[in-house]
Amino acid sequence: MKYLIGKKQNIELFVEKNYEAMSQKAAALLVDSLANKLQEKQFVTFMPSAGGTPERLYQILGEKYKTFVDWSRVIVLQMDEYVDLPAFDKNSYTWFLHKKLVKPLSIQKAFFIGEYAQGRVQQYDEIIRNLGGIDIILHGIGENGHLGFNEPESDYDSTTRIVALAPETIHANARFFSNMETVPTRGITLGLRTIMQAGENILIASGVKKLPALTRALFASVSVNLPASILQNHPHVKVIADEDAVDIKLLKAK
Ligand code: GLP
Repeated sequence: MKYLIGKKQNIELFVEKNYEAMSQKAAALLVDSLANKLQEKQFVTFMPSAGGTPERLYQILGEKYKTFVDWSRVIVLQMDEYVDLPAFDKNSYTWFLHKKLVKPLSIQKAFFIGEYAQGRVQQYDEIIRNLGGIDIILHGIGENGHLGFNEPESDYDSTTRIVALAPETIHANARFFSNMETVPTRGITLGLRTIMQAGENILIASGVKKLPALTRALFASVSVNLPASILQNHPHVKVIADEDAVDIKLLKAK
């Protein structure tokens, strides 16, 4: 089911039955956006998120859409990464994106933000500028409403930087690590300003744990307390969520 929300009806919200349906829908919408962009431009810049939510979506890209998009013309830019974790660590987002997306789709050009953490942070924004900006970002959402590692209270004007992870983020990401002591406490992330400059922002959310953050992101006032709410001010947003992540009653009352 599709809804148009936001002050300027600028957010297309798709509510799907479950995680599988959400992943299928998001994959279909994403490849349409990529293919449309590739009709206008020689290369499309795509910023995928890591984390648990997009895992099935990336699998579907390989299963169904390997030839639908000319992936050799897709340039991948990583959104965020842990600092203090080697790129070859199985829990790094670099490892995840390489294994789930870049390799299976034979993507030829990818920039990994973690490589810029040591004294070259601003170079990452320069790369994005030199590529003409980011065409499409695929976001997950943190339980605290973060985008990438833009934690609550992040500046709207922020660019790529190293940040301390919020306690909730450390706690939520602990499920991927063997014990609390090994969970990274710092990250490098694209900034909110750069997110707002992207051509299109697509956000996916699944499960009841994401319901409070998604509800606030879509329906509460825009606030630095909940970074994802900034997307209400972006002109081109698609949100694909499963029923567990959406407050259907509130949505219908709007
Ligand atoms: C993580 C990452 C984000 C991700 C979000 C949701 O901490 N920093 O890039 O989108 O939180 O992750 P998940 O899909 O695993 O819930």
